[in-house]
Amino acid sequence: MGIQIAPSILSADFANLERDILAVADADWLHVDVMDGHFVPNLTIGLPVVERIAQVSPLPLDVHLMIEDPDRWAPRYAEVGAASVTFHLEAARDPRTIAADLRGLGARASCAIKPGTPVEEVLPLIDVLDMVLVMTVEPGFGGQAFMADMMPKLTTLREASDRAGRDLWLQADGGVARDTIQTVVAAGGDVLVAGSAVYAAEDRGAEIRALRALGEEVHHHA
Ligand code: DX5
Ligand code: ZN
Repeated sequence: MGIQIAPSILSADFANLERDILAVADADWLHVDVMDGHFVPNLTIGLPVVERIAQVSPLPLDVHLMIEDPDRWAPRYAEVGAASVTFHLEAARDPRTIAADLRGLGARASCAIKPGTPVEEVLPLIDVLDMVLVMTVEPGFGGQAFMADMMPKLTTLREASDRAGRDLWLQADGGVARDTIQTVVAAGGDVLVAGSAVYAAEDRGAEIRALRALGEEVHHHA
């Protein structure tokens, strides 16, 4: 798998969501940030809105759950049509069961770690995961500064995936833009979330292609 770009609709115009979803159709995934005002201080959208987004989006949904009780809620997002569901390790009671439930519903299972969570906590789970999301900002808001000190987590995960003979997808989320994407890819990331970088651009399609091309320049693994 090459470099994949996942624009985050957190930076879209929520009053013109369908228009802004169609504007990023050149990407690989549509990144949908679900926040509950508890796990993170911010509050966005929930199941009924995600269900409608799944119906109108030309891209598969990459749902990022920044919510409490993902054991209960994560499978529901797969049921309404998310192709990939990411839950936070810090909020999960039984991450293996969540991953199994997601895969059982035909979705890709993904687990996220916040900047303060050591990568060692997610390593024992990679056999049941399709992707790991390494947060490169504190979750909750778009437009924050990229944390380059998270890169060793990606490298550790890439090495562990290679050692296991796996093609674990590694996602970075937060502050990914033209000036940071090559750092992420060189460290082992291959699925790049970009919210403000894509939506601030006049031509969203051109920005997505520029990000992908920059990533491909430094992408080595198969
Ligand atoms: C932050 C969200 C991100 C956010 C990224 O908690 O998970 O997906 O939209 O926004 P940028 O790309 O602007 O940092
Ligand atoms: Zn996100």
